[in-house]
Amino acid sequence: MEISIRKADLVTLKTDMLVVYAFLEAKSLEGGALEIDRAMQGKLSLQMKEDSFKAKIGSSFLTHTNGEIPAKRVLVVGLGKKEEFDLEGARQAAAAVINTAKEMGVKNIACQLCKFGEQKASDCAQAMVEGARLAGYSFNKYKKVNCKMPKSFTIITDDGRDVNAGQKGIELGELMARGTIFARDLVNAPAQDMHPERLMQVAREIAKGKSCVRVKVYDWQALKRMGAGGIIGVAQGSEFPPYLVHLIYTPKSASKKIVALIGKAVTFDSGGLSLKPADAMGNMKIDMAGAAAVLGAFSVIDKIAPSVTVHGVFAAVENMPSGHAIRPGDVLTAMNKKTIEVLNTDAEGRITLADSLVYCSKLKPTFMIDLATLTGACMTALGEEITGLMSNDDKVAELVLRSSADAGEKMWRLPLEKNYKKLLKSQIADLQNLGNRWGGVLTAGLFLEEFVGKIPWAHLDIAGPSYAEREIDPYTHKGATGHGVRTLLTLLKSL
Ligand code: BES
Ligand code: ZN
Ligand code: ZN
Repeated sequence: MEISIRKADLVTLKTDMLVVYAFLEAKSLEGGALEIDRAMQGKLSLQMKEDSFKAKIGSSFLTHTNGEIPAKRVLVVGLGKKEEFDLEGARQAAAAVINTAKEMGVKNIACQLCKFGEQKASDCAQAMVEGARLAGYSFNKYKKVNCKMPKSFTIITDDGRDVNAGQKGIELGELMARGTIFARDLVNAPAQDMHPERLMQVAREIAKGKSCVRVKVYDWQALKRMGAGGIIGVAQGSEFPPYLVHLIYTPKSASKKIVALIGKAVTFDSGGLSLKPADAMGNMKIDMAGAAAVLGAFSVIDKIAPSVTVHGVFAAVENMPSGHAIRPGDVLTAMNKKTIEVLNTDAEGRITLADSLVYCSKLKPTFMIDLATLTGACMTALGEEITGLMSNDDKVAELVLRSSADAGEKMWRLPLEKNYKKLLKSQIADLQNLGNRWGGVLTAGLFLEEFVGKIPWAHLDIAGPSYAEREIDPYTHKGATGHGVRTLLTLLKSL
């Protein structure tokens, strides 16, 4: 599907489907919808009334024009209350357009620029492209499909000044969507194919295509030499050997700022000997969604071209039970020499992240951010759509929260409560990998904090939002979401 923007007159435009907007509780139509209604001698508003169309957010009303205007059909997309309109409204509106067009096999769409109030034309166009591209996504690697995606999606404005700005927005929206879809594809792929070695190769392939990105890979022997006992311990039940993967993006002009992004990369989490029950294991191919978000961001990092150095790090492992697997009660030694008593082999992510964080802190980054499908407890606390953020630094926390709000990814800060540190005290080691039955998301965050040293750091528990069990919104269908990629890219671009 080709996406473009141009200046045109809606009333005389020839297209398969013309898209305009309406607001909830509005006394009358306005803007493009009003123009079309006038050209159709009031028939549009009459039909909307007859069919009780309310213009709720996400709703839409379709009608054929029967030759009243050159456009074959008009789709009126509801935007909810006008005073509540924001860029998320534009994202969802464009997504609703694509969902409708796909259902009906519409080929060419002309869609009015979804801009109302204070928003910039570039931001509106960007949001529309994100919504349209992500709504059009489906994972088809393992099945035959006959895709009915539209051929063209033309954004229409009546203000010539919006065209150049809109073009910039389209380009950025394309990158945001491309990075997100890259992550979705990795997470959706079954664990039989997306195993540790494959995930490492994906990083190599990204670096191969970009002169500004290098990659270092540490295999089992190298990890052993480095003393990465956490990564090695978690991986040892699996037939697949572990890899620590390190991507490095260097900006064109030198900058002092260094950002490190760390992803949990458990390609399958069976729980290990602390085996998960079948219904909790079914979806555990998604346990590398943190690394997928980092890789998604790196897949377009040359085009986003941040002005800071960016490190991307993940420890690719599979968590399996076997005669070689770690046992509950075993003690592992992390790269910073701290010992960890493994009380539950299913709390494996924090153990692999421990080594990844120690490795990253040695790079002396200005700050670091980890993304991890870390705890079911985070889903209990915040549900399926909101990421839990924990941080030892208010400025970094604010930066991440602001970026996530701009990107349209929901996050909420939770405390790193010092008093709960006692819950991680082990009888026989420096730490145990389990708290008690309460506040599991917080004790996981506190465990990680033991390995970040003094580096400003934010931890994102993305267990809920990384996979949609059902339709979340018009551009997030069931399946992997690519959550985190747009926040990371928005943040990097803002530095
Ligand atoms: N990968 C899981 C967390 C998870 C749960 C991710 C649901 C996505 C959806 C993690 O490794 C895990 O098993 N955590 C345990 C920790 C417990 C043993 C302390 C959990 O949340 O139950
Ligand atoms: Zn687990
Ligand atoms: Zn896990």
